[in-house]
Amino acid sequence: MTTPAANAMTADQLRNSFRDYFAARDHTVVQSASLIPHDPTVLFNVAGMVPFKDYFVGNEKPPFQRAVSSQKCARAGGKHNDLDEVGRTKRHLVFFEMMGNFSFGDYFKTDAIPYAWDLMTSSRESGGWGFDGDQLWITVHETDDEAEQIWHEQVGVPMERIQRLGDKDNYWQMGDVGPCGPCSEIHIDRGAEFGPDGGPLRDPAGDRFMEIWNLVFMQFNQDANGNRAPLPTPSIDTGAGLERILALMQGVDSVWETDLMQPLIDEACSITGHSYKVGDYDDRASFAMRVLAEHARSATMLVNDGVFPSNEARGYVLRRIIRRAVRFAYLLGTDKLVMPSLVAVAGQVMGDAYPDVTKNMSFITDVIGKEEERFRHTLKNGLAILDGELNADAEKLSGATAFLLHDTYGFPLELTQEIASERAIDVDLDEFNASMTEQRERAKAARKGGVDVEAMDAYREVLDQFGTTNFVGYTDDFADSRVLAILDGPDDDNGNPTVEIFLDTSPFYAESGGQVGDTGSITTDTGTATVLDCTFALPNLRRHSARVTEGTVIAGQTCTASIDVLRRDAIRRNHTATHLLHSALRHVLGEHVKQAGSMVGPDRLRFDFSHYDAVTPAQIKQIEDIANHETLGNMPTRIFETTKDEAEALGAIAFFGDKYGDIVRVLEAGSTIELCGGTHVRATGDIGTVKVVSESSIGSNLRRIEAITGDASVALLQRDEAMIAGAAQLLGTQSDDLLGGVQRKIDEVKDLQDQIKTLRSQLAAGRAEELAEIAVEGVVVTQVDGLAPGDMRELAIAVRQREGIKVVVLIGETDTGGVALVAAVQPGNSKPASLLIKDAAKAVGGGGGGKGDIATAGGKDPSGIPAALAIAAEAVGQVL
Ligand code: SER
Repeated sequence: MTTPAANAMTADQLRNSFRDYFAARDHTVVQSASLIPHDPTVLFNVAGMVPFKDYFVGNEKPPFQRAVSSQKCARAGGKHNDLDEVGRTKRHLVFFEMMGNFSFGDYFKTDAIPYAWDLMTSSRESGGWGFDGDQLWITVHETDDEAEQIWHEQVGVPMERIQRLGDKDNYWQMGDVGPCGPCSEIHIDRGAEFGPDGGPLRDPAGDRFMEIWNLVFMQFNQDANGNRAPLPTPSIDTGAGLERILALMQGVDSVWETDLMQPLIDEACSITGHSYKVGDYDDRASFAMRVLAEHARSATMLVNDGVFPSNEARGYVLRRIIRRAVRFAYLLGTDKLVMPSLVAVAGQVMGDAYPDVTKNMSFITDVIGKEEERFRHTLKNGLAILDGELNADAEKLSGATAFLLHDTYGFPLELTQEIASERAIDVDLDEFNASMTEQRERAKAARKGGVDVEAMDAYREVLDQFGTTNFVGYTDDFADSRVLAILDGPDDDNGNPTVEIFLDTSPFYAESGGQVGDTGSITTDTGTATVLDCTFALPNLRRHSARVTEGTVIAGQTCTASIDVLRRDAIRRNHTATHLLHSALRHVLGEHVKQAGSMVGPDRLRFDFSHYDAVTPAQIKQIEDIANHETLGNMPTRIFETTKDEAEALGAIAFFGDKYGDIVRVLEAGSTIELCGGTHVRATGDIGTVKVVSESSIGSNLRRIEAITGDASVALLQRDEAMIAGAAQLLGTQSDDLLGGVQRKIDEVKDLQDQIKTLRSQLAAGRAEELAEIAVEGVVVTQVDGLAPGDMRELAIAVRQREGIKVVVLIGETDTGGVALVAAVQPGNSKPASLLIKDAAKAVGGGGGGKGDIATAGGKDPSGIPAALAIAAEAVGQVL
């Protein structure tokens, strides 16, 4: 390659020189955006212009009209995909940096072209790169007379070094949709040893005439149907690959020998024990080492920006990158992990320009190392299967094999395809896709069966990738952490969407052992998620169910995770109190008391236990006294880990619902000692007062008590105090005389009831007199309303006692709206009184009777009373 100057620049110097050149020409220096684009139409930032897309298409007003950047880019998917080329050529990379200058409706071709030429060809002393203009070739779009004219007339490039090419080479599009326009490229002639003469037109592979800078004249916005609408103002987007220019500047054969890649190649040599052959693109080992170097750097940069290996979109690309590298390491015969040490070198190479890479190094190493481990686990067996199939002389590799490799051995389809293509064999894609569809159907069916297979798969993937959550909540209320993954959760009760957040480190207690999960918040630079609950998605994998209440929260971000401390304190009090109550129950009721369940929340605790009888109020009082004696003792609690046997020897009792391993966590609180994984107060005095608020049966020989502590006990006391004061006031007395006041009120009521009774009988006597007076030949059959049935009976007896009375029938609507019928004949009468009302009762929808001289009956229908009276009057003859 051509060396433009003896004192070659380093990558960092080159990046700076580009920025400086354009900053001096009124361009605002913009830092590189993340590799994860905000724009959903591309998987990664594929070019320097992607972060500026909205400025080009006019969706957003740019804060500046000129900008310069060196943007992190990845081309590994969609329209821009170089992944499969990596290792085979001198210049293809997945991750690279694109230096670019941009004009948003400001300058156009007449400035963009001379700027590029000037920077390329000016001497190093004057801030340029010092390339020899005679070695530079230009291509323009076949229709672009204007660009050609500027290159030739304004810049002075001879016509024989300007060539016109079609859309394929000289029309640039961001994606299937988005800004686009004709472009013009600068190529460098690397000399006769790289191929025949004739310019880029005769060298489509770009071996001799290598493209180094693309100037796009952005003029259109392409929609999904391929229609191109003019942009609000023509703009400029240029892109110069940092690594390629670096190679030229440093006078080396390819990007692999630059100061960005060489250290990685060296590390690949040292870790695999192979030697690298510069410029030998047929040597398998050298090819493999280029792949290792590139993929380690790409993976490092991707994880740094928050991409994690997974089976979806970006995560899948990252997984492919890592697995492709691992497979090449395996081909080189390296059994040990290679990625961690390569990642460390990538960190050194990139750390100066991107200090966050250095900061995140251990995390990045962890993520990539784990992915390597996972793949190595199955790689050997998978390769053996694949080898067998490929040796079977088939023309096509069956889709079923590719699916098996994918599903069971973790081979990305593309990896299988690459390996097969090394032997010129295709993979049966139709068959592979059919197997994939079938698997999805199976998952769907299983989901219908009640298990959310998809969710479980997602949890397992999170666990696979990141391992279990580092829990710090026994000692800390908050933690500096990282958002590892975010999944969609079910809508909450109000129909708002929720998410499930997985953290690296968490202070959130996940619901277990009866203790509810913590609530709180997760805050990143860009937003806050309010945590509504914390549960285990899988053992030791904490799922924070949350609602994003401010801004956005993105996987990969660092965050502060904080629990609601006051709520947790209340939970602690209730949890330790549960232990005190358990022990007190056994003391008062007997050792047969066994915990059958518990619920420890912030507002109260519930404890279910076996016992054959209701717990009496006196026993409850005794239990409370024991528990409160412990809290007043204010003994520090002690939590320690020990073996299960040791804990048993100490007399520890096990709580229901917890699983215990060989090493158990033990809580000593006051005189109690139990195994427990929950959170507890520091000393029993922290609990405050323990108050049992209910006792009930929840099944045969199963009882439940509910109790409160701390603030809730005080609130209960205050509520009861107010109630007593209110009652005393109503009784017109003082609180401390409440019982005396109530007793006096009861006595008063009793007095009044006695008076009512006396008055009633006086009234009845008067009534009897009146009724006796209306008797016709000793017979009274009449209606009497408004009395209770008992009073009506008394009245009938009173009437019968009057002189000359032989038969009494009283029928009427009672005080409660029913119908009462009473019949009386003189004692010793030969016929029973019941004959009088037997049929009459039917007329009011009822019945009744009696054998003697008094009969009573009841009915429901007062409208039948006149008929009943008539029937009764008819019946008089039967008893006389
Ligand atoms: N967008 C153009 C490219 O990627 C120029 O930056 O080549």
